Amino acid sequence: MIIAQKNGRNTIGAPDKLFGVSAKAKERIAELGSDKVIDSTIGVLLDDNGQLVVLDSVMKSIRALQPADYAAYAPILGLPQYREAVKKAVFLDDLPQDCFIESCYTPGGTGALRNAVSAYTKPGDQILVSSWHWNPYNLIAAELGRSVRTYTMFDEAGRLNIASFEEELAAILREQEETVIILNTPAHNPTGYTMTDEDWNGVLTVLGRYTDKKIAIVVDIAYLDFSGDAKEYRAFLKKLVGLPENLLPLIAFSASKGYTMYGMRCGALLCMAPTEAIAREFIDVMSVECRASWSNGNRAAMTALANIIQDDELFAEVRAEREAYLQVLNHRSAIFMEEAHRIGLSTCPFDSGFFITVPCDQPDEIGEKLQESNLFAVALGKGIRISAASNTDDQLRRIPAILKAAME
Ligand SMILES: Cc1ncc(COP(=O)(O)O)c(C=O)c1O
Repeated sequence: MIIAQKNGRNTIGAPDKLFGVSAKAKERIAELGSDKVIDSTIGVLLDDNGQLVVLDSVMKSIRALQPADYAAYAPILGLPQYREAVKKAVFLDDLPQDCFIESCYTPGGTGALRNAVSAYTKPGDQILVSSWHWNPYNLIAAELGRSVRTYTMFDEAGRLNIASFEEELAAILREQEETVIILNTPAHNPTGYTMTDEDWNGVLTVLGRYTDKKIAIVVDIAYLDFSGDAKEYRAFLKKLVGLPENLLPLIAFSASKGYTMYGMRCGALLCMAPTEAIAREFIDVMSVECRASWSNGNRAAMTALANIIQDDELFAEVRAEREAYLQVLNHRSAIFMEEAHRIGLSTCPFDSGFFITVPCDQPDEIGEKLQESNLFAVALGKGIRISAASNTDDQLRRIPAILKAAME
């Protein structure tokens, strides 16, 4: 460091792996043409021509905005109509009655995760996440002077490893009075796993044993609207109602994927508080968290989303349009899984979502080997992440064999 302070952040100046591979893919495409190269590094939904999918119905709402919707400040916690709208975006017509639901605007799911970690842990604390996880969890924790502890995500049967979850949580809570647990489900990034009913029961049974520790359970639902049937994939939310008062369910909502508003930075943190006082505290704390981090949010994005959700017809249009793309996405991943199965390539347990992960021992080496075959994919902890969101049916049919050859 020259003048800036490191403050325990150990990745400052380190090359960004994802952008590194992505830049190489672009170079190779410029050299050989896009028909000869597969770029599987991209984490957004692309159509079969490689163009970003932008929902027309969402654009309709954005185009209807007035100058003041862009220019004026929004309240610190977000526009009141937005704070109501996100409840509907998360729970649809099944808003739980037996808990106190509050919400605040955050810039994307990232802001929601940041606020949750900042508000419900102390500097020096560890938070708990699964071994396969979205890397920014580490950065968010480090930036706030916290750190990440991981449990082994899967057991041998390919289910959530509750024994490891229990063990690592116990290790944290031997040292701390509070922690945050991030559960990224449904359609987990990077594996595509969705927690089952049984997984949820296992997690909640473990948490129920801690009656004197404060635990915030953050469900990162970034991919909820690109997982599966809207009602079925929200069923887990009911399990979060009626928990003991020391357990606080929080929902990190993101409009990035579900509403294709990635760049508008539109998200929210919601609490499902067991008491009114805990909900009040959430609001009071979030007012300070938001004010000190980004102050006011993106009013235009909030207005566009609130206008969609308040308008039954437009909301139905968004959902129908999204459903068509969900079918495209599911079809792509099914092709990959079918082909992987046919040639004997193992993947992490996959259910739905943007990504599929193939575990392997030397991901960095294999990632480089793939590049020799003009396939560019991100090497993660112990695997290679393939993006069903950004590759075509044809590419996804070809990728398993390329991966298998590189691994062999
Ligand atoms: C697992 C996961 N959580 C949260 C996010 C948050 O995204 P955003 O801040 O764009 O809403 C992402 C985005 O890629 C993600 O993959």
